[in-house]
Amino acid sequence: MSSRHLSRSTVVCLSFFSFIAMITFFKFSPNGENLLSWTSETFDLDLSFSLDALTPKPPLFDWEIDPDITDHITYNEREITKLRSCMAQGNCRRNQEKVVLAFAHTWPQAIIDGWRGGEGVWAMSMFRAMRELGYTVLIGMNGWEETLAHYRMFPDQVKVIIKSAWIDDCIKNPACIKSDINLTGIPRWKREFAMNFFPDEHTRFGLDYKWIIHADRHFKGQEETEKLQYIGYSFEEECKKRPFVPHKQRPMASWILAKQATLFHLSTVETAFNKSYFELASQEPGLEDMSFRGAYQVNGEYMKNWIHDSPVQALNGVVNLGKIGPEEFGDEVANARMMIGVGNPALSPSPYLALCSGTPFLNPIKSWDLEHPDDRSKWVSQHNYLKWLDPPYVYNVPAHDYEGFVSAIKSAIHSPPTKRYIDPPMTLDGVRKRVERLVETDWRAIAKEYMEERIAEGATYTWTL
Ligand SMILES: *[C@@H]1O[C@H](CO)[C@@H](O)[C@H](O)[C@H]1NC(C)=O
Ligand SMILES: *[C@@H]1O[C@H](CO)[C@@H](O)[C@H](O)[C@H]1NC(C)=O
Repeated sequence: MSSRHLSRSTVVCLSFFSFIAMITFFKFSPNGENLLSWTSETFDLDLSFSLDALTPKPPLFDWEIDPDITDHITYNEREITKLRSCMAQGNCRRNQEKVVLAFAHTWPQAIIDGWRGGEGVWAMSMFRAMRELGYTVLIGMNGWEETLAHYRMFPDQVKVIIKSAWIDDCIKNPACIKSDINLTGIPRWKREFAMNFFPDEHTRFGLDYKWIIHADRHFKGQEETEKLQYIGYSFEEECKKRPFVPHKQRPMASWILAKQATLFHLSTVETAFNKSYFELASQEPGLEDMSFRGAYQVNGEYMKNWIHDSPVQALNGVVNLGKIGPEEFGDEVANARMMIGVGNPALSPSPYLALCSGTPFLNPIKSWDLEHPDDRSKWVSQHNYLKWLDPPYVYNVPAHDYEGFVSAIKSAIHSPPTKRYIDPPMTLDGVRKRVERLVETDWRAIAKEYMEERIAEGATYTWTL
């Protein structure tokens, strides 16, 4: 096969899929409509098991890493040594010989450096679930060479390779990936599990959307029927470390969810409530004792190009605790009467921590269908998954609705939750089941079916199974 022929077929392949992407784009709504099921319309996925049938078998293995490990290379070396020696001695634990490569920077950052941003929380949950199930998990930054070196050690045992969504590297190059001209390249159906925190769509150059794994959802109850692959994360253990505090024992305080004052200075779509609301609300009858608390920075450089009214300033009527760690944050949330969203960040993990602490969340609705304002499927809210819940846990309040804002806080005081709320798919067990399915599914068979469908429709592939 000449290189000229290859580049031409690559072009055909790329333009075909950008065409698909365009169609998809027009069908796509910000609410994540246009969902297909695991057994999709275009081809019959023959998944050998359903999620319900998957009950991880005890025992669960220890998942923590040795406390003296300070870099991911040392961690990998120890895992590789353990794997080689158990294989030599024939005494591997269940699943140990199955290898997951997670070569995406968020993994070492979360696991080794303790980073707990949204993707860090997610990576940590997946790592824990995989280790509890006994798999050998090797981690790394995004580099192709590093990934390849580890793949070469155990090519047949590597089940899935997780990557950062924005990394394409060699993936599109038939000289790199397994293809007619490179029979020993890494098969794309193993290499291509792309982490997208947000459940939005992207073209995958000839693979099914199931190769996009994501951390959260737009729709309730559609985890099994959606187009992408939901894995998710769990806060169950972190939040259960603290006892549930009955609301009567909590101080009269609400927590403002914003790490940056900039979030109060964006457009009227992105900043859902005027920052004067806090000072005004504490003058309302019944709210005189309410104090608003938060932990934010005042930094005019943050999201500078989106700022609408400069300068970025501190908020009147909000006690600012400045920079606080996760422990103090957890304590604040567990003792607040309510957590109040202000429009951003979208799909943040923090409201789940609030609900799991029995603290209601005020979720701003940023836009809605003017003719059908009650149609939730058309709402775009700050936390677009939690919009499906109701009081006493979630109060959905339209942006710039001061009356609604005040009334939600009053209701949260008068009719507080009496127990925690943990979203059922977000238990430790739920994450483990989906992680087990990710590792155990026959992705080659699914890729083959998908590929054959596409080829029948005229697509050209530059990689092979
Ligand atoms: C096949 O792909 C691997 C992995 O990217 C690469 O190291 C190797 O040089 C490639 N072989 C050929 C013949 O291009
Ligand atoms: C917020 O409220 C203040 C005081 O009522 C007003 O001056 C300001 O224009 C409002 N800001 C926006 C973006 O509506």
